[in-house]
Amino acid sequence: MRYFTEANSIEVVNARIDDSASPRLRQVMTALVRHLHDFVREVELTQEEWDIAIDFLTRTGQMCSEQRQEFILLSDVLGVSMLTDAINNRRPPGATENTVFGPFHVADAPMRQMGDSITLDGKGETCLYVGRVLDLDGNPVAGAHIDVWSDNAEGFYSVQQPGIQEKWNNRGIFVTGADGKYEFIGIKPVSYPIPDDGPVGKLLAALGRHPHRPAHMHFLVTAPGYQRLVTHTFVGDDPWIESDAVFGVKSTLIAPFEKVRDGRTAWRSHYDFVLTPLG
Ligand code: BEZ
Ligand code: FE
Repeated sequence: MRYFTEANSIEVVNARIDDSASPRLRQVMTALVRHLHDFVREVELTQEEWDIAIDFLTRTGQMCSEQRQEFILLSDVLGVSMLTDAINNRRPPGATENTVFGPFHVADAPMRQMGDSITLDGKGETCLYVGRVLDLDGNPVAGAHIDVWSDNAEGFYSVQQPGIQEKWNNRGIFVTGADGKYEFIGIKPVSYPIPDDGPVGKLLAALGRHPHRPAHMHFLVTAPGYQRLVTHTFVGDDPWIESDAVFGVKSTLIAPFEKVRDGRTAWRSHYDFVLTPLG
């Protein structure tokens, strides 16, 4: 038996893992212990800093509720959500890229007809969203569900303002026909800060980082036989486009938003989604 020392800490801790542990859990935990110990060694963590870290994690947990997931927000602002997403959604050239899901999706939104508006509060600049759902060969995908959601003109999702906004404001699900086309009216979204009244917001402030996300429309596109696509389209001239607080922007997801003259809407945004087959 070897007692724990500064020099042998990684080996001693990892040697305690029993043979009954699953191989994957062993792999993950031994790597975690190795990186954590190397980190503590590299920065020579002080006792006071250890106290601050424990307090930070405690407050992060205490901030979590049915409505709020502060640990996911921490993962988001540290780039861990986007890195995990990238590793798990490597796609062939031409396929639409994934981005962060975010906390504001609500399952089972109303099914809407093509061309319908999702904006129930009448606020904001109207925008016609049009495009097609395609496979990698450019063929239309019929029966694809396009679940969309955005903030309102004041930068809040409906779930952030129960009693102020209707639950399904700026939300809806559209189903493609044989031509793969979709069309709906929403608003030209606006940029907004991620929830920054908790420990994660305080961390951002201490680091001199802003909490803003550039304006975007969320899309969850699903179709039998294809990978689930979780993505956004972004407004390219947004002031925060190059400094998204959660690192969600990819150049391929910047969509055209064109001013419309004499149309049903003030803006028009065209974007085709290209799905990747399963397997
Ligand atoms: C969002 O886009 O809705 C979002 C993503 C990550 C953190 C907060 C909000
Ligand atoms: Fe969002």
